[in-house]
Amino acid sequence: MARAKSVFSCTECGGQAPKWQGQCPHCEAWNTLVETAAEAGKVPGANRFASLGGTGEVVSLGEIEAKDFPRLPTLIGEFDRVLGGGMVEGGVVLIGGDPGIGKSTLLLQAAARLSEQVPVLYVTGEESAQQVALRARRLEVNAAKIRLLPEIELEKIQATIAKLKPGVAVIDSIQTLYSAALTSAPGSVAQVRECAAQFTRVAKQSGTAIVFVGHVTKEGALAGPRVLEHMVDTVLYFEGDTHTSFRLIRAFKNRFGAVNEMGVFAMTEKGLREVTNPSALFLSQHRADVAGSCVMVTQEGTRPLLVELQALVDESHGAQPRRLTVGLEQNRLAMLLAVLHRHAGIALFDQDVFVNAVGGVRIAEPGADLAVTLAIVSSLRNRALPAKHVVFGEVGLAGEVRPVQRGQERLREAAKLGFTHAIIPAANKPRHRIEGIEVVAVERLSEAVDYRA
Ligand code: TYD
Ligand code: MG
Repeated sequence: MARAKSVFSCTECGGQAPKWQGQCPHCEAWNTLVETAAEAGKVPGANRFASLGGTGEVVSLGEIEAKDFPRLPTLIGEFDRVLGGGMVEGGVVLIGGDPGIGKSTLLLQAAARLSEQVPVLYVTGEESAQQVALRARRLEVNAAKIRLLPEIELEKIQATIAKLKPGVAVIDSIQTLYSAALTSAPGSVAQVRECAAQFTRVAKQSGTAIVFVGHVTKEGALAGPRVLEHMVDTVLYFEGDTHTSFRLIRAFKNRFGAVNEMGVFAMTEKGLREVTNPSALFLSQHRADVAGSCVMVTQEGTRPLLVELQALVDESHGAQPRRLTVGLEQNRLAMLLAVLHRHAGIALFDQDVFVNAVGGVRIAEPGADLAVTLAIVSSLRNRALPAKHVVFGEVGLAGEVRPVQRGQERLREAAKLGFTHAIIPAANKPRHRIEGIEVVAVERLSEAVDYRA
């Protein structure tokens, strides 16, 4: 078979060039030309992925019967939660994460459950069939029905999918595949992009749900940055400290469900085990109250989660005091320190400040502000916050404490875990008393800082 000719197309504007150049001749962006397969008969520069979703005929939206997507649950509750209820027919899911975090493990466990319901094809490009069989034995899953294909050539995998018509196909991993139509090496942006685009087309046409495994580069981006994310329906990331056994899986994009949902697993010697009540996970066990520690309630998707924040304030000896965060946003810390100074009269310009979210969890919401500030003040004064207190609330630049979403649910979760007091924004104060928890409503940061039990 003659090789299909390849062209170089720009990742920014889609313009094409016959050979590689440093600068795109169309939009003049630098370093954006990547090799892609040329398609005969297509207008150069036309978006080759344009008809991914259908037949290309014009219909009015009212004529289309909007039905719910039939879901194919993996029967792993935490995984289904982030997927939005299960796999979707013809849906394409990308699972990213560091090497060794447990992507293959989770997918093999899910594939075993799915194979009880539909035919499942597991394509392994990284490991041999023996290695996968060994893992299945170790996981003690019923993998007998999974069809395994050790293969890295795109065209052969496509042919197999066309022949077997599986309900679900797992591609482990997208970076090991190559298309014979391109000359670049497997794992290059051009190959990853081409393979993902082809599989997406296969999924939409055949109704097979496809899951890609994607490795994250050192900079934390999936290879083929941005390129894969817009092609697929769902992007999930595996997170977690490889030093602890906990693994979090988060949805970053989901055309079939909510984002910011989080699934929690523990890695055991028999694979990933679901953690259905993760709230207590991110609290460290102190025997006595310690200074610099504050428990907050954060909201992850539909679920409240209790997380302990720790701060350490220490005399600075450098010209520039240090501000370091783990699991929280660094710039936000600088902002909070400025607010503390201006609106509560607490100066930290000669102190190093370190803040850590316990258990390797990452908190992006501003609802952590009040807890961070109280942990810092507690460490500075070397006085522990009163026992059994939780905190949440956003701190504004004017020193006001602003409400967060779903305050009541957060309070209920805290009460469930035995907390007796909550320092929260006045606007979040529930109209009716919540059993077991006393609310301390604050309007200004200074009130929270001056609070005594
Ligand atoms: P793996 O799923 O191969 O990671 P990935 O596909 O994301 O690269 O997981 C590898 C790690 O998980 C490895 O360090 C060993 C550990 N592990 C367990 O602790 N228990 C198990 O049952 C399995 C299968 C793996
Ligand atoms: Mg793997």
